[in-house]
Amino acid sequence: MKLAVVGVGYWGPNLVRNFLNHPEVSEVYCCDIDRQRLDFIQKKYPSVKITNDYSSILQNQEIEGIVLATPVGTHFPLAKKALEFNKNVLVEKPLTANVDDARALIDLAEEKGLKLMVDHIFVYNGAVRKIKEIVDSGEIGDIMYFDAVRINLGLFQHDVNVIWDLATHDLSIMDYIISKKPNAVSAVGMGHYNALEDISYITLYYDNRCICHIHVNWLAPVKIRRILIGGTKKMIVFDDVEPVEKIKVYDKGVEVTTREGIYKTLIQYRTGDMTSPQYDTTEPLMSVVDEFIQSIKNNRRPLTDGWAGLKIVKIMEAAEYSIKNKGQIIELDV
Ligand SMILES: NC(=O)c1ccc[n+]([C@@H]2O[C@H](COP(=O)([O-])OP(=O)(O)OC[C@H]3O[C@@H](n4cnc5c(N)ncnc54)[C@H](O)[C@@H]3O)[C@@H](O)[C@H]2O)c1
Repeated sequence: MKLAVVGVGYWGPNLVRNFLNHPEVSEVYCCDIDRQRLDFIQKKYPSVKITNDYSSILQNQEIEGIVLATPVGTHFPLAKKALEFNKNVLVEKPLTANVDDARALIDLAEEKGLKLMVDHIFVYNGAVRKIKEIVDSGEIGDIMYFDAVRINLGLFQHDVNVIWDLATHDLSIMDYIISKKPNAVSAVGMGHYNALEDISYITLYYDNRCICHIHVNWLAPVKIRRILIGGTKKMIVFDDVEPVEKIKVYDKGVEVTTREGIYKTLIQYRTGDMTSPQYDTTEPLMSVVDEFIQSIKNNRRPLTDGWAGLKIVKIMEAAEYSIKNKGQIIELDV
């Protein structure tokens, strides 16, 4: 299979490396409007074919799939063109910068019978998949809360705020792990250096008293990548900064008893063992690349298809609206 990676800035080279390492891939083309980035990628991977002309990629009949690792604002026009030229498309997260554009891409891909996939990379992460397995087994009971913190210093994006850059990850993890859908969102945020928010606190509400909170920040002095999932039976901590034992399952919780006659509710704490389960450590981006290739080869829907991308874009668009309205609760239909 011959594929093209468009955009070889910070993230694109990782995609190029994984496509080159995939046994089904015979040739990788790289396209960028920046000559220096093309020279860089050619030097690093001499076998790639480079061009600064996107239309030459579109017109090349041998290229079956186009992978977009360009700034978010360019995802829609570049993906639309790719679909119009009958190419399958893998778009870096987030799928598009707004809901209308995501819907238009889904319609076009379905009309043409082409694959449209979004790189929600954490859905392909072995640790996240292990957490889902534990949650689905019923081991931790019902989820009471999901609390995510993703903060560090930089990398400021030029065209999107911190929600579209970082919260995409936590929202896609939340969507993958919690099978129910959130019904409302509320968010606050602030931009300190330009109009784009560099810090935001997002709250999501579910029907069954489950609450989610996501804290994203480009201005933190330390790097934290941590998710807490509180279940009625057990609790999970996923710390992605830890080199090993990223997942810890705590047999901790509270037990409530009402003593007859005394009319008193007793809350007792329960502390049991902590375990750290093993998980698949395959590079998640290799699994993303493989999913894209297999979905084309076997003519099946990719796991993170356009609909998965649209769901996250809907939540982020609503969160952005809430920020503009000082944290107003916005009903969701996702
Ligand atoms: N999955 C992940 O974990 C992850 C991590 C980082 C970035 N990303 C995503 O990857 C995408 C790119 O982010 P980045 O940090 O690499 O940005 P970047 O600015 O470092 O790189 C973007 C590249 O695209 C090129 N480009 C811009 N417009 C183009 C066009 N019209 N045609 C061809 N090339 C064009 C630029 O010259 C640049 O080299 C974003 O969507 C971002 O959200 C994903």
